[in-house]
Amino acid sequence: MIRKVVDWLDVRLGVRELWEQNTTGYLVPRTINAWYALGTVLLVLFGLQFLTGILLLIYYIPDAEKAFDSVGRIVNEVPYGWLIRNLHAVGSNLIVVVLLLHMLSVLFMGSYKKPRELTWLSGFLMFNLGLALCLTGYLLPWSQLSFWATTVATDAAGAVPVIGPKLVEFLRGSPSVGPQTLGRFFALHVVVLPGALMGLIGFHLFCVRRCGISVPPFGKEARPARVGAVYSHEKHPDGIPFFPNYTTEEAAIVCFVLAVLVGVTFFAPEIFIPLDALDPADPFATPEHIKPEWYFLWAYQTLKIFPSKFLGLAAQGALMTFLALLPFIDRSEERRPARRPLFVTCYVIGLLLVVAVSIWGHYS
Ligand code: HEM
Repeated sequence: MIRKVVDWLDVRLGVRELWEQNTTGYLVPRTINAWYALGTVLLVLFGLQFLTGILLLIYYIPDAEKAFDSVGRIVNEVPYGWLIRNLHAVGSNLIVVVLLLHMLSVLFMGSYKKPRELTWLSGFLMFNLGLALCLTGYLLPWSQLSFWATTVATDAAGAVPVIGPKLVEFLRGSPSVGPQTLGRFFALHVVVLPGALMGLIGFHLFCVRRCGISVPPFGKEARPARVGAVYSHEKHPDGIPFFPNYTTEEAAIVCFVLAVLVGVTFFAPEIFIPLDALDPADPFATPEHIKPEWYFLWAYQTLKIFPSKFLGLAAQGALMTFLALLPFIDRSEERRPARRPLFVTCYVIGLLLVVAVSIWGHYS
């Protein structure tokens, strides 16, 4: 039966050729390593977020009066609602971890260099969209934690000179976080941002496929690839088939990450859903310690370290612009970390600084 369906499709769409070209006939470098599986891990995690998000939408009510109770109902009354909700909340945190690892590995291996500038740029945009999805989703349960964390996060925009106060009001839909903010964040979280992300994922994968996977820059034989001035696909005639050889390795890594997701969801969801998240939002009771999520702590603390919020915001903007434009700034063809001591030193110091500032933010 399946054979007949495939035959039918093959006559019309040439599916066998397509399958062959993209699986057994698609060769990836023989030395490809586990870090290259993180892109696929992200695809799987985003797929899961879409699925759990749609299921949550069935019972969630985007109204400031009802949102908190609707989440309570999902967790306490809807069959397996707790599982879907916790998978979605823990999954969002795991996505940030994997996004960071994917970005750091691509940075370390110099895969952002010519001809992969567009792959990097689209990835960098997706990284920011991913964070925006987390920020907007965080408000939706309308808990004390989400209400006040959003107040702090949107407050930061007020430091932009001249348009700051207007910008804050635009983000919130009102002078302070309120029902209008919930409406805006809901629309962004379920329509605008996922739609933009899907388009970008498509473009990112197109770039990856068109350029070909980069050869890991390690080992005695690794040499900087000569990149010409005309389009050419990076071929690996001596490589291994993407399917089934590399796909099995990727599947093992995907399973490992899913096991972590399920483990945290079942046994320690409180890591990402703390106690403050169990109280409904009260605009008149400011909690003693308001902190953003762990991935925004570095930004939150930078605003406090600098003498003015504006300088802090400018420093963050400069860092993000530098990262976005890195492939156009760092133009050498050398990708081997051992031959890029300046880059590796800045990479390690930068990473340690972000971690240290985040820890400082957590305890301050
Ligand atoms: C929604 C998020 C993302 C998805 C689904 C995704 C997916 C993928 C996939 C499947 C690959 C091919 C395999 C691999 O090298 O991992 C890839 C490669 C790549 N990604 Fe991403 N990615 C995402 C985010 C990012 C981010 C945040 C960056 C960097 C800012 C980035 C930069 C790159 C680069 C430069 C490559 C080429 C690697 C090479 O050929 O060596 N991606 N991505």
